[in-house]
Amino acid sequence: MTDLGPVAWPPVPIRTERLVLRGSEARDRAVFIELHASPEVHTYLGGPRPRDELEREMPAVPGRWPGSFVVELDGAMIGRILLRRAPEHRRPAAEGKVDLGYLFLPRVWGCGYAAEACAAALGWVGGLLPGEPVVLATQTANVGSMRLAAKLGFTEVERFQAWGAEQWLGVRSPVAPSD
Ligand SMILES: CC(C)(COP(=O)(O)OP(=O)(O)OC[C@H]1O[C@@H](n2cnc3c(N)ncnc32)[C@H](O)[C@@H]1OP(=O)(O)O)[C@@H](O)C(=O)NCCC(=O)NCCS
Repeated sequence: MTDLGPVAWPPVPIRTERLVLRGSEARDRAVFIELHASPEVHTYLGGPRPRDELEREMPAVPGRWPGSFVVELDGAMIGRILLRRAPEHRRPAAEGKVDLGYLFLPRVWGCGYAAEACAAALGWVGGLLPGEPVVLATQTANVGSMRLAAKLGFTEVERFQAWGAEQWLGVRSPVAPSD
């Protein structure tokens, strides 16, 4: 499901101007729960999970798989980025492609952190899998996510109905190597 091929994980932390992208650790567990229990974060993602269920079921080190980045600001987790292959995506155009997902704590929205972190993660996957396109699916009503997708260079493949809402599938083609 998440197969990106042979990849060293956890990765060497990636540093951007303001952030660090790294593999998850036990100290991130509380923020994973906060993210996944947040109604605001899950407005366009099918709703949050109950906090007590998350407290019971969240592994000691959550999200520890290649392509699952924790985004850190000033030493504390503020969000996640997920890069995984979708072998059985419901849209044929996305099948077998690497898919980008992102979740950030509402208190850090509107600062450009998601854009900064996603650009770095796309650079990482571009180095790992040169020439591969990346896909992204999001609800069209999710304005922040749609703006982010455009900023990152995703272009529309199609719109479709699923889970009772209009969805957008975008693709980001690899940057052509310069001469
Ligand atoms: C989708 C999501 C990640 C977007 O977060 P965000 O903070 O709005 O995204 P960005 O990083 O692009 O930052 C947005 C704004 O920060 C502003 N900003 C402030 N300071 C900035 C800075 N120093 N640099 C860049 N932008 C800055 C920008 O103007 C930008 O606004 P704009 O898009 O209107 O131009 C966030 O809403 C989220 O986590 N949602 C819940 C999960 C979800 O729905 N995921 C989608 C499914 S995959």
